[in-house]
Order: sequence, then C-alpha cells, then structure tokens
Amino acid sequence: MTQYKVPVIPGDGVGPEIIAEGRKVIDAAGEKHGFDVDWIEFPNGADHYLETGELLSEDTLKELSNYKSIYLGSIGDPRVAPGVLEKGILLKARFYFDQYINLRPVKLLDGVWTPLKNKNPKDIDFTVVRENTEDFYIGIGGRAKKGISEEELEVTRSMYSTKFGLDIETDSEEIAYQIGMISKEGTRRVIKYAFDLAMKRNKDKHVASVDKANVLSDIYGFWREQFNDISENYPEIDTDFNYVDAITMWFAKNPEWYDVVVTPNMFGDIITDLGAMIQGGLGLAPGGNINPEGTSMFEPIHGSAPKYKGQDKVNPIATIWAGSMLVDQLGETEASNDILSAIEKSIAENKIKTYDMGGSSKTSEVGDNIARIIREDL
Ligand code: IPM
Ligand code: MN
Repeated sequence: MTQYKVPVIPGDGVGPEIIAEGRKVIDAAGEKHGFDVDWIEFPNGADHYLETGELLSEDTLKELSNYKSIYLGSIGDPRVAPGVLEKGILLKARFYFDQYINLRPVKLLDGVWTPLKNKNPKDIDFTVVRENTEDFYIGIGGRAKKGISEEELEVTRSMYSTKFGLDIETDSEEIAYQIGMISKEGTRRVIKYAFDLAMKRNKDKHVASVDKANVLSDIYGFWREQFNDISENYPEIDTDFNYVDAITMWFAKNPEWYDVVVTPNMFGDIITDLGAMIQGGLGLAPGGNINPEGTSMFEPIHGSAPKYKGQDKVNPIATIWAGSMLVDQLGETEASNDILSAIEKSIAENKIKTYDMGGSSKTSEVGDNIARIIREDL
C-alpha cells in the first residue's frame, strides 16, 4: 500500500469542518485505490496566532517543505485585523513555496444551478490559470511622507508628481502607492503552464490572456509580449487577448468561448470570484496553488465564513474538489477522477444538498454521501 504524508492546516472559521469532510473523502478514495494518507495536522490560524504570536514561522515552513502537497481549509478571523492572517499564512505559503500557478477550474457540474440563463454544463467548463506570486501582490507600497527613502521617492514622483501637481515632500500625506511588478521568468512560466494545459485538455485548444495593456501598458504590455512569444511555440493553439473588464462581461455572456484563461495575479483574484459564481457559487469552487517541482497547496477559494463556524452547515464540496486536485498532484489520477465523479453523482442524486444549493443537509452528510458513493457506487 502506498503511503503519503500530507500536512493539513484546517485554519479558521468553517475550515476544520470542511477539511474533515475532505479528509474523509480522500481516505475513502485511498481505500479503494490502494493508498493511505497519514495526515499531519498543523494548528496555524487565528487561535494559534492569538495564543503564540506565530503566523507561519520559518521552522513550520521548513517542515512543510518536506511534503508535496498541503491541504488547507480557510484562513481569516474577525478577532484579527483584516489581512494579517491572510498575508501571514496564505500568501506567505504561496510565496515561500513559490506556488506560481493558481489553478482554478470553472466547471458547472450537472445538476448545479447557475445564475446564467440558458447555460448548461457544456457551456461552462474552463480553467483559470492565475499567476500567483507577482503583480500587485508583491507587497511593495506605502504612504509617502517626509523621510521617505530616495528610492521610494523616485517611484512616487514618477507616478504622481507631474499628473497631480503634487510636491510629495510637502504634501506628504496625499499619496499612497502600491507597486505591481512582474518578471520575465515569472510571466513565462505561468503562461507556458497554461499552454501545456490547453494541449492536454479535451476542448478547443484555446488560451485567452487577460490584461489591461491599454492602460497599465508597462506592466501588462510586457505580459502580452511574453504571451505572444510563447504562443509561437504552440501553433495548434488559438489565442485571444481580453482586457480584464471585458472578460467579466464575456464570462457572463459567452462562457463557452473559454478553455484555458491565463491571468496576472490580481485580475485572476477578481475574475475567479465571478467564475465561482457562474459555476454555482463559492461553495463549489476549488483552487490549487501549485509548484510542479515543489510543495503545492490545495484549498477552497472561499473564505472562513466565521458566522457559520461550528454549525455543520456550509458546503464542503469546494474543499472536497480541492482534495481531488491534491490527490491528482500526488499522482493518484484515478482516485482524483473518482472523487470528482462521486461529487457529481452525489449532486445528481439531488438528495443531500447544503443550504446554498437549496437543501438543508449538513456539511458532514455531504462528505458522508460522497465517501459512500466512492466505496459502493462507482
Ligand atoms: C483568494 C483570496 C486571497 C487572494 C486573499 C485572502 C489573500 O481572495 O485566494 O482568492 O487575494 O488571493
Ligand atoms: Mn479571492
């Protein structure tokens, strides 16, 4: 029997409840497919932070780096200022492990309601490949004030001084700035991943690139150049450019146009919430933070929903689906496919549904049912 060790960070809010269901389902898939997962629990999250002051320490990160895949519940708690846990744990892990691909399938499963009229599962089936370590997420920014470093001064000056007529040394409270930066290597590797994915998928062999090169032309003009350059190595693949504002419109109107969508980090964050909605809501949207050669991390893309904590109420399907992606990353492709099939079958039975899908089942009943289908019904 193959043995895998998988670190698990249940996290905050509903995290522990949904992760319990994800584990249950992966364990069932392991029984069927001849592998066993040894779950290594990590306490990181709000409680641990409030007790110890640790967000995600260097020691913990080092330990986590021994493993191929981390299973993450959700992070965020009203007792802690917004951003502290998200940046200190979630983004910290994404950056530390250089998980440069954020893979977010947007797939309407059979039997799931979508707010898009007259669209069905064959229309909504694409994957967003979000760059995950650069762009406006690099954390360089601040307020301009007296005593600012020469370097920062230069940056703010070139951005603002002419246009707004600000003398930033005297009007120092007038400016806040955030730098978006992308690198050639960082851009090329994620775009290449998107093209490779389009080659593997059984769809239209199409990659759409998202940018805002008409306005933010330095940064996204560069993105576009790299995209064009790489596309030349993939003559079988059709390409398209979409401005980020326009793609939100097309996701709503013509989602069937899309196969693989590759996007810079921040735009990817925004458009994947829309993607989640058209596939039935955040309760059904999984994500993988992937470093193909290192440590990856799988999570639902929704937050910790603190108001539902401990109620056994929220939908665990996003987390279970993320578990299917995790298992795939481990190399257990059949088990991964079985998990997704079992999710689909459970939904098709139309009996066990949480409140967001119009039912009243509990979180744990959904996990039980999907695990049962894997054991008995596939
Ligand atoms: C996501 C989240 C995170 C992001 C936050 C919580 C840092 O919104 O995973 O989409 O912005 O990437
Ligand atoms: Mn988001």
